[in-house]
Amino acid sequence: MIFLSRFSPFKSLYLWKNLNMENRKSGDSLTIMTEIVLPNDTNTFGNLMGGRLMYWMDIAAAIAAHKHCHTPVVTASVDNISFENPIRLGNVVHIEATVSRAFNTSMEIYIKVWGEDLIQQYKYKSNEAYYTFVAIDPAGKPKVVPQLKPETEAEKKLFDGALRRRQLRLILGGKLKPDEATELKALFVKE
Ligand SMILES: CC(C)(COP(=O)(O)OP(=O)(O)OC[C@H]1O[C@@H](n2cnc3c(N)ncnc32)[C@H](O)[C@@H]1OP(=O)(O)O)[C@@H](O)C(=O)NCCC(=O)NCCS
Repeated sequence: MIFLSRFSPFKSLYLWKNLNMENRKSGDSLTIMTEIVLPNDTNTFGNLMGGRLMYWMDIAAAIAAHKHCHTPVVTASVDNISFENPIRLGNVVHIEATVSRAFNTSMEIYIKVWGEDLIQQYKYKSNEAYYTFVAIDPAGKPKVVPQLKPETEAEKKLFDGALRRRQLRLILGGKLKPDEATELKALFVKE
């Protein structure tokens, strides 16, 4: 245990860290991962296997969630992933993950994926997805996470949409009754 005396340098660090646990920014969790598609990563068509890409995305999202809350996290759910373009053998894979919204103990992570052909010198979008992670305390119970304060217009748009996406995934996960999903219902039903 660290003893925090009045003059301890640890005290300043401790206070600084705790002050910064409030209203975290999207940039605080930004995680950029770069991989190259090797033969062992491909299917029989010579393209990156979806499962390998989802594995890398899961790791990037976990790091982003961990950076946001500084607590161990687990994957709670993964939303729909559509693969728009295959990523070819030898191409580079860029994965960018940020927390788009924090709820109580859970966080939504937005992930974008691009492929890059370094020989022909062009980049192309592969897919995007939303993962949900839950912070876990030493007893394995969900733990409250700091809130996220969006700053840019793009961050605010992601932040607002996160509430509807959360309701949809909780309905699909059997954790919310459709009648209780008020924000989601408002998109489809005019009262
Ligand atoms: C995810 C997990 C921690 C949720 O625990 P739980 O006891 O069901 O807890 P709760 O119902 O209180 O939910 C805790 C949080 O998880 C969220 N959650 C639960 N199920 C969810 C789902 N299917 N999708 C998104 N979020 C979900 C809840 O909304 C809640 O978030 P909030 O506090 O921000 O509102 C638990 O189910 C678990 O440990 N699952 C296994 C995780 C794992 O092993 N992942 C590795 C890949 S298989």
